[in-house]
Amino acid sequence: MSLFSPRVMPAEPAGDDDPFIESLIARMTLEEKAGQLSIFFDNAREDAPDINPAQAAKSLAEVRAEIAAGRVGGLFNGIGVASGRALQKVALEESRLKIPLVFAADVIHGLRTVFPVPLGEAAAFDPDLAERTARAAALEATAVGVQWTFAPMVDVARDQRWGRVVEGAGEDPYLGRVLAAARVRGFQGQDLRDPDTLLATVKHFAAYGAVSGGMEYNSVDLSEATLHDVHLPPFKAGLDAGALSLMTAFNDINGIPATAHRGLLTDVLRKQWRFRGLVVSDFASDAELVSHGHAADEKDAARLSILAGCDVSMASGIYNRYLPELVREGAVPMAVVDESVRRVLRVKKALGLFDNPYRSLDPEKERTQLRLPVTVALAREAARRSVVLLKNEGGLLPLPKGGRRIALIGPFASDRVHLMGPWALWNEQRGVSLEQGLREALDDAQALEVVAGCGIEAPLEGGIAAAVTAAARADVVILSLGEGDEMSGESAARADIGLPAPQLALAEAVAATGKPLVVVLQHGRALALTGAVRAAPALLAAWYLGNESGHALADLIFGDHAPSGRLPVSFPQHAGQQPFHYNHRSTGRPQTQADASRFKSRYREVTHAPLYPFGHGLGYGDIAYGATELDASTLAWDGTATAQVTVTNRGARAMREVAQLYIHQRVASLVRPVRELRGFQAVELKPGESATLRFVLTRQHLAYAGADGRPVAEPGLFDLWIAPSAAGGTPAVLRLLAAV
Ligand code: BGC
Repeated sequence: MSLFSPRVMPAEPAGDDDPFIESLIARMTLEEKAGQLSIFFDNAREDAPDINPAQAAKSLAEVRAEIAAGRVGGLFNGIGVASGRALQKVALEESRLKIPLVFAADVIHGLRTVFPVPLGEAAAFDPDLAERTARAAALEATAVGVQWTFAPMVDVARDQRWGRVVEGAGEDPYLGRVLAAARVRGFQGQDLRDPDTLLATVKHFAAYGAVSGGMEYNSVDLSEATLHDVHLPPFKAGLDAGALSLMTAFNDINGIPATAHRGLLTDVLRKQWRFRGLVVSDFASDAELVSHGHAADEKDAARLSILAGCDVSMASGIYNRYLPELVREGAVPMAVVDESVRRVLRVKKALGLFDNPYRSLDPEKERTQLRLPVTVALAREAARRSVVLLKNEGGLLPLPKGGRRIALIGPFASDRVHLMGPWALWNEQRGVSLEQGLREALDDAQALEVVAGCGIEAPLEGGIAAAVTAAARADVVILSLGEGDEMSGESAARADIGLPAPQLALAEAVAATGKPLVVVLQHGRALALTGAVRAAPALLAAWYLGNESGHALADLIFGDHAPSGRLPVSFPQHAGQQPFHYNHRSTGRPQTQADASRFKSRYREVTHAPLYPFGHGLGYGDIAYGATELDASTLAWDGTATAQVTVTNRGARAMREVAQLYIHQRVASLVRPVRELRGFQAVELKPGESATLRFVLTRQHLAYAGADGRPVAEPGLFDLWIAPSAAGGTPAVLRLLAAV
């Protein structure tokens, strides 16, 4: 899997001198231009979710009047074909220039059929799967009138306190790049003019995942080098895969709010990366320049945003209100506004809206394309593939389907809602609970006893006693614990990433019965595991798995399929060990595992190591890795070298193994991380089977982004591991030779 040969863009926008677009711009009034640059939350439509700060609700008549006046470029988060067609008709028949609206929505991981949250799906380490679920999400979204999704979120998240870890691909920039590109390809398909494709938005530009203390909407203080090396690459990968839209972030970076960040929005995005799509603000993030204390008032905020390179204003309305007078006063050049309008019209044209303004607004599709059996089957496959088996002492899993009494205990045992995660906005709550999944799979459904034991964050009267009684009657206990859907996602930063106290108390009481314990965790971030949960012999990290959650978990628990997910985020040993990411820089006083002496880089309570490392995940087989081998000890500047490893399944069951290639540059002008992922390959192995996996390396695999964003490759020694996780493997050493 190489990122150095990105696929050709699926849809090239028209050139700058597109006569059709230029003639439209020439005929537009300043007010109409500002209107094209403004999109609004469609809260007049039924089905509009309640996910953002309250806005003055508009009646349908008011929305129609605004469209007719040419004051709206697009609407978001309202769905439905009939209502969408009616609104589009107003734009086409009542507005002066008849420019079609574009309908957007937060389609993050499915629409009616909900796939695992992106962090969960990242655990599959499988770009093909990510592309297929994004494609399926696009089919459903376009069937209900959506043409533009505000996804994928590609923010690298190195602090698990941040709630939005759940929406992205986790802590690693390489995995982030691979999955950003795959998701864009899936949403946008082969040709963006096809009515079943969705315009993709890479968000939130940039470094939102680096908010201080993991606290939501907080500020970001970050070196240029880390910005370019860690946080920007997934954006670049998403744009290289053809994404024609990008959303700014709420945060400031080193004192400049992202929505007013000319260095990022113009210098990096337009000049360095040659991005030709549109930039949209986050929800009112342009107006929030005032609260940041960066703009004097909303008019000033509109000026700063458009001058920085933010083309479209989301929700605040400040472009409508102030751009015309800013241009008339000479504070904003007309050419700047025209360029933003050009980008918007170009994207509308790339979507085929001028030829077919009713694209993705087909009542027949809405009737026939939702929750197709093939889509539901994909949701089950994706859910299975997302689960990470953290621990399986004594081979407790898989469980037999008959002959044992099972107690299913915990606040999520029968839940059908939280399992959708925080971003499933139109899911109709048809999720399959763990209870349902287990009952359907068991030989005798009566062999299962179900007790909640406690609420998600509060005790239940008599709950623990009932749970202990059920556990005592059972042969094995499945504990279903974790975070409710409001405990992760936007505005859900947590100061403590452990499980809530009532769940911990429940786990202790149940564990005290001495019954074998399988813990199934539902969560949107890496958790800090403690006490009986941490000590349980079998632990499954199951994120929020979406619609088919219960079926997928039963598939794994009873061994119809084997777990194969790998952690996209490190599980810490302690909640206070944040931020934590495997690819931290080497310090001057590193703690080696054997070394417990005092003056070393670590917290007093724990070693500087995770409980479960990035990349970790077990199956039901038993994989052995040979040493990493190289075909040559040197790599010429323009040459290639091959690294390989032989993996063998010594177990009795088939396995999907994800072999991960890590590098470490021993001496560098900028201190390098102790390890960095640079590739991975998956292989299916039957019992007793071996495979040799090869990675062809060039100097690009050994390069990093310097402070100016350009790749730096430095001759010298590199350690290379092909390993089952960021903590395993036997390294080989490769010398990169200087250019001759
Ligand atoms: C979020 C975005 C989202 C937007 C529109 C914001 O609060 O940060 O990710 O796309 O709302 O709903």
